[in-house]
Amino acid sequence: MNSNRVLIFDTTMRDGEQSPGASMNREEKIRIAKVLEEMRVDVIEAGFPIASQGDFDAVEAIAKEITESVVCGLARAGKPDIDRAAEALRAAKRSRIHTFIATSPLHMKVKLQMEPDAVYQAVIDSVRRARNYTDDVEWSAEDATRTDKDFLCRCVEAAIDAGATTINIPDTVGYTVPDEFHALIRMLFDRVPNIDKATVSVHCHNDLGLAVANSLAAVQAGARQVECTVNGLGERAGNAAMEEIVMALRTRKDHMPFETNIRTESITRASHLVSTITGFPVQLNKAIVGANAFAHEAGIHQDGVLKNAETYEIMSPESVGLKASNLVLGKHSGRHAFRAKLEDLGYQLGDNAINHAFKRFKDLADRKKDVYDEDIVALVDDTVVRGNDRIKFVSLEVVCGTRVKKQTAEMELEIDGVLKTIKVTGDGPVDAIFNAIKDLTTDTQRLKVYHVHAITGGTDAQAEVTVRLEENGKTVMGQGADTDTLVASARAYINALNKLLVKREKTEPAAMIA
Ligand code: KIV
Ligand code: ZN
Repeated sequence: MNSNRVLIFDTTMRDGEQSPGASMNREEKIRIAKVLEEMRVDVIEAGFPIASQGDFDAVEAIAKEITESVVCGLARAGKPDIDRAAEALRAAKRSRIHTFIATSPLHMKVKLQMEPDAVYQAVIDSVRRARNYTDDVEWSAEDATRTDKDFLCRCVEAAIDAGATTINIPDTVGYTVPDEFHALIRMLFDRVPNIDKATVSVHCHNDLGLAVANSLAAVQAGARQVECTVNGLGERAGNAAMEEIVMALRTRKDHMPFETNIRTESITRASHLVSTITGFPVQLNKAIVGANAFAHEAGIHQDGVLKNAETYEIMSPESVGLKASNLVLGKHSGRHAFRAKLEDLGYQLGDNAINHAFKRFKDLADRKKDVYDEDIVALVDDTVVRGNDRIKFVSLEVVCGTRVKKQTAEMELEIDGVLKTIKVTGDGPVDAIFNAIKDLTTDTQRLKVYHVHAITGGTDAQAEVTVRLEENGKTVMGQGADTDTLVASARAYINALNKLLVKREKTEPAAMIA
């Protein structure tokens, strides 16, 4: 392989799913995996098979579905974890087992309660066990940036001797800074005698907002795999954002002469899909994928961009798959045009899904004069992604305004295939709607965030509502879109509730990782 090629290892479905509030079911993970494969991601970390039956099933399904990218499963340094990962990956065309153990004094003493020698032995045993199942084994030194350097070198050397083909150096707590991390990676190249037999990888968390900068510093020091997530999702402040790593390498090739294999035109689509599925909105000014990332407000900037886009744009919107907001279909558009538009937007849907989405599109076109690409993306993601939800929105009627004493919501839901109706009041229309949903389902969750934004301009724009629910310390996010803000609110709450159902089924393994 070209020595300047940087492998992109996506962990949106493993570390990303560990974001407080994010959760994905099997079907949702398959959809994300397919988009990642289309983007030509090198390695897809599909989950942590021993964590729950749901995780196992998702990794197994992705292993069957994905043929181009390597499919990877995470495992702690123990036989049950490694065997379970291998079982989930059995059908994969190209599989990787990623096994890890903490190596910092603090983690070894407090979390693992193991002496360094025992950890050293566990490194060897775990890599050997994983190698019985596949030739592609990655070993990670959890909390590497706070690990004693001599011990880190010893463990890395032992892992490679035991058969690890990738050595991952995580900045688990987002503690390091670019020049220090650069020096750490260089030190491994200088001091570990067999380092040339493995690919050096990095996995940076964003606690100090340095995950991308640290990852790029590591690449300049010789790392050739970067672990990252779409939209920077991940435990606590998240992981390095894939779109930022990839676009920084592409845009600053003059300074960093490295290449990835990523089809950058799929970035916007992947970002939107992950945001819809997880319910995590993308911050407006987020680099590369934020709604404002290519917007120019100041007159002097607009003038410059009109004359020559390069005056204020260091990359083109098209290079990340952003198309100018163009008027697309209207209420007279037929199924044929709709299907062609979906293909143009990168969707490959089955007939059933198209029929469903088309029905909602017609409904939208009846209520909204101009239907833009953004409207279609929101609508399709909302319809298709939610296809397997246990609780489905059916209809809603709300009575509100200044002339009524109590706002009333009459709500119809389909719950596990059974139609249920209720009429309740509340302090305001949104409160009435949420009361109706709670009365029909459960009332153990608490609403923590309620947020509305318009997808496009104009008073007939679709509203996109985000809600965050909490139950026993677990949080979930939900999103819903509609021209009617109240309907969007109901859809968002129901979406979050469906995620909570999935979360309730999950039991977390001990000593969960960052
Ligand atoms: O942050 C971390 O250390 C991890 C490892 C499992 C790679 O997520
Ligand atoms: Zn991590």
